[in-house]
Amino acid sequence: MVRAPCLLLLLLLPMLCVSETTPEPCEVDDDDVRCFCNFTDPQPDWSSAFQCMAAVEVEIHGGGRSLEQFLKGADADPKQYADMVKALRLRRLTVGSAQVPAVLLVAFLRALSYSRLKELTLQNLEVTGAMPPLLLEATGPALSTLSLRNVSWATGGAWLAELQQWLKPGLKVLNIAQAHSLAFPCSQLRTFPALTTLDLSDNPGLGEDGLTAALCPHKFPALRALALRNAGMETPNGVCVAMAAAGVQPHSLDLSHNSLRATAPGAPGCVWPSTLNSLNLSFAGLEQVPKGLPAKLSVLDLRCNRLNRVPGLEELPKVSNLTLDGNPFMDPEAPKYQEDPMNSGVVQACARSALAVGMSGTLAVLQRAGGFA
Ligand SMILES: *[C@@H]1O[C@H](CO)[C@@H](O)[C@H](O)[C@H]1NC(C)=O
Ligand SMILES: *[C@@H]1O[C@H](CO)[C@@H](O)[C@H](O)[C@H]1NC(C)=O
Ligand SMILES: *[C@@H]1O[C@H](CO)[C@@H](O)[C@H](O)[C@H]1NC(C)=O
Ligand SMILES: *[C@@H]1O[C@H](CO)[C@@H](O)[C@H](O)[C@H]1NC(C)=O
Repeated sequence: MVRAPCLLLLLLLPMLCVSETTPEPCEVDDDDVRCFCNFTDPQPDWSSAFQCMAAVEVEIHGGGRSLEQFLKGADADPKQYADMVKALRLRRLTVGSAQVPAVLLVAFLRALSYSRLKELTLQNLEVTGAMPPLLLEATGPALSTLSLRNVSWATGGAWLAELQQWLKPGLKVLNIAQAHSLAFPCSQLRTFPALTTLDLSDNPGLGEDGLTAALCPHKFPALRALALRNAGMETPNGVCVAMAAAGVQPHSLDLSHNSLRATAPGAPGCVWPSTLNSLNLSFAGLEQVPKGLPAKLSVLDLRCNRLNRVPGLEELPKVSNLTLDGNPFMDPEAPKYQEDPMNSGVVQACARSALAVGMSGTLAVLQRAGGFA
């Protein structure tokens, strides 16, 4: 049990690791539910993290420093402190702003295999060095949600396959934003049998080719929701082609906040998955409804585009829930949308003109068409 605290990073570590008295980096709320630690101080008092032992949600920021000092316990067998980890109430953990040796990350995941952790978020991390080889009996936590934002890996695109080995297979939601590499070597990746939501939003450099590389064929058989907000997508058709190549059949697809254009004439057509019933094309700079959309949808969100006229029924899929708010035709006098200067073409905000006119986009179309179901 002696070295366990160091191994468990900042959670259990304080019992042994040296400390100096500085202002408390960790704060826990009155109900012992949430604990927040910020170890920005050059000589942080790591023992402050001890307060988080009883918390359900823990957020730890490492102040950008290297956590190499905790490596000395990383080879310990996690079984020896399994009981201590089992007693934790921890369900949600965020670790941010640090340089973490891959060996330490794996030791940490192995230790958490005894925990009841459900949601793990890693952000602004630099993972250094190679992942250790898989042990025969190795398992990690039974996560339902894994979120990564701005995490870089020394192993490049192989990181997901390597990380996946240290997680139990029930992952349901995977969010990867500001990724450094999404070009996964598909032969190494295992199937995600339970993954229902894949969110690759906020990867503006991804593009449709990158999406094709990231969506390893047949590795996401349970996928229901695919989110690609602000992910450098160019046409709905291009996304359709990437999804068809991967064999994914989502029910909802979010393409909002991409600078979309109508499909180029002569581009190959694409058969949308028959499962798709919700398509989000909002904040996409569209001047007209793209051609080749699925023939039938339950939900189509075209809010905050640049549609200058009411789309004709023949341009739209058959859709029961259509949103056209915030397009210029709704209120030509209203101030126009603001474009993000860093990301030209992507509309960041739009006038809530629909409310001013007191008529929703759906109504506008219904009135024009004399009603349709
Ligand atoms: C941590 O503290 C530093 C210095 O006080 C501050 O600049 C930084 O924003 C804090 N980080 C978080 C995540 O609150
Ligand atoms: C991404 O994470 C690195 C640390 O790994 C940090 O230095 C950088 O500022 C982060 N970038 C953003 C946009 O937060
Ligand atoms: C579509 O995306 C926008 C922006 O990302 C979001 O505000 C809106 O709720 C989404 N619409 C639907 C129907 O999910
Ligand atoms: C339309 O879809 C949105 C997003 O899924 C939902 O919030 C809203 O309640 C739906 N409206 C109707 C009338 O079904």
